[in-house]
Amino acid sequence: MLKKINKQQHVTSVYDASLIRFPRFLDPRGNLTFIEQERHIPFKIARVYWIYDVPGGARRGAHAFREQCEVIIALSGSFDVMLDDGSAQKIVHLNRPYHGLYVPNMIWRRMQNFSTNAVAYVLAEHPYKETDYIREYREYTELMQGER
Ligand code: TYD
Repeated sequence: MLKKINKQQHVTSVYDASLIRFPRFLDPRGNLTFIEQERHIPFKIARVYWIYDVPGGARRGAHAFREQCEVIIALSGSFDVMLDDGSAQKIVHLNRPYHGLYVPNMIWRRMQNFSTNAVAYVLAEHPYKETDYIREYREYTELMQGER
């Protein structure tokens, strides 16, 4: 079980984002994957949302969350998640419905290079709250500089 990062001891970095492998039941009738909150997800899931019908070249989710952690799954198709902590960057290509990318709070992230019919399925720690978003990259980097 992954532990949530304690912000007082640790400044979050892109290296805290990690790939979670969910269980897979391979079956000639079609494969099956499941998630149990207590076993596979490092937070209590308060909300699920999904992004679909993304036109070629479009980018989504260029922001960070002050408090919220998420797990991002390419339920169908593929896309890249660009992670940035104001110092290092990392791009994770998601193309398996049994992989989830754990993204801690206070990581700038953007989704891009969506394939045709891609579905980004996101497990979120909190209900939607606009004030939890940091939508200006400059504000984000200033906050991170203050942490370091
Ligand atoms: P947003 O997270 O801003 O998408 P992106 O960062 O990819 O542009 O969401 C777009 C809009 O959808 C936002 O203005 C409000 C609404 N929204 C909700 O009402 N509830 C939700 O759970 C989410 C994720 C978005």
